[in-house]
Amino acid sequence: MEPLTPPETVIETAIRIDSHLGGAHERSLADDVLDGLTRPFKELPPKHFYDARGAELFDRICELPEYYPTRAERAILEERADELATLTNAAELVELGSGTAAKTRVLLDALHAAGTLTRYIPMDVTESMVRDCAEELTSEYPGLQVHGVIGDFERHLDHVPSAAGPRIVAFLGGTIGNFPPGSRRRVLREIARLLGPEDHLLMGTDLVKDRVALEAAYDDAQGVTAEFNRNVLRVLNRELGAEFDPEDFDHVALFDPQHEWIEMRLRARREHTTLVRDLDLPVHFRAGEELRTEISAKFTPERVESDLRAADLELVRWLTDPDELFALTLSRRISPETTL
Ligand SMILES: C[S@@+](CC[C@H](N)C(=O)[O-])C[C@H]1O[C@@H](n2cnc3c(N)ncnc32)[C@H](O)[C@@H]1O
Repeated sequence: MEPLTPPETVIETAIRIDSHLGGAHERSLADDVLDGLTRPFKELPPKHFYDARGAELFDRICELPEYYPTRAERAILEERADELATLTNAAELVELGSGTAAKTRVLLDALHAAGTLTRYIPMDVTESMVRDCAEELTSEYPGLQVHGVIGDFERHLDHVPSAAGPRIVAFLGGTIGNFPPGSRRRVLREIARLLGPEDHLLMGTDLVKDRVALEAAYDDAQGVTAEFNRNVLRVLNRELGAEFDPEDFDHVALFDPQHEWIEMRLRARREHTTLVRDLDLPVHFRAGEELRTEISAKFTPERVESDLRAADLELVRWLTDPDELFALTLSRRISPETTL
C-alpha cells in the first residue's frame, strides 16, 4: 500500500507562486511618479495604493455601510453562481486584481460543488494577498491547485499560465472602472487574449446612479477611504524616499457627471514643496492644488456592451442586483462565424 502523503506535502504541491515584480515594479512606480507629478494636473495611477496597508484599508472599505458595491456584487454572485458554473463548466478560475478573494469564494463554492474546478489562478500586485489567499484556499478546497501570479495585469498577462480546461477570467470589484475609456478598451483587449473558444470573462462594473450615494461610497463618515487615499503618499515615502506629510492633504471625492465617473483627489492644505529624493524631484503644490489618485467609472448597460464589443467580446449574461446598483457581465470572444 502507498504511504499516506503528509498534509504539509499536499499543501506544498498544491501551491505555485510566480513573482514578476521586484526591480521592474519599482521602476514602474518611479516612471509613473515622474510622469504624473510633473504634469500640469498632477495624477498617479490607482494601482500604487495597494501595498499591504493599502490592501488592508481597501478590505475595511468593503465593510463600510456607505460602500454598496461589494455587497451588491456579492449578492449577485450568491444568487447566480450556480448558473455561472453550469454555463461555463469551468475547470479553472483566473482572477485579475484578486485581493483577498473574499467574494470569489462564492464562485469557487459553486464550481467546486459542480465538480469541475481544478485550479485557481489569482493575480495581484500585492504579494502578501496572493500568498495568503493561496494558503487559505488550498486548505478550504481540498484538491484545489492554486497558481498565484504576483504581477501587474497591465504588463504581465503573458505570465498567466495556459488554460488546462474551460476557464473563467474574473475581473471583479469594478476595477475595470479605474481606467479611462481608451485604456479600458486596451486592457479589455489584452484580457480577451487570455480567452479561448470555451472560456468566459466575468466582469464587475458599478452602475450610474444618484450622485449622493456615489460620493458617499468614496467619502465615508469614518474616514477610511480618506486614509486609503493618503496611503499612496506613504507608498511614495517608503519606496522612493519622498517626504510627503499625508496630513498636508485633504481627501476629495467628486462625481463628474459629464464623464460619469468618480474622481478621488488629494488637495494640498497649504503651499509647499516636497522632495522625492530617489528621483531628485522637487514637487511643488499650491494651496488647494489637487492630485488625482483614482477615477472610478460608472457604467450603463450600453457602455459595458460597447467596451466589450471593442475588445471583440459578446455579452452572454447581464446580471444585476434587485436595486440595479452593480452589474456582473459574462462574455466570451466573438467567434469568427458570428462576425461573418
Ligand atoms: C478595487 S480592488 C478589488 C479587489 C477584489 N477583486 C474585490 O473585488 O474586492 C483592486 C485590486 O486589484 C489590484 N490591482 C490594482 N491594479 C492592479 C494591476 N495593475 N495589476 C494587478 N493587480 C492590480 C489591487 O492590489 C487590489 O487587490
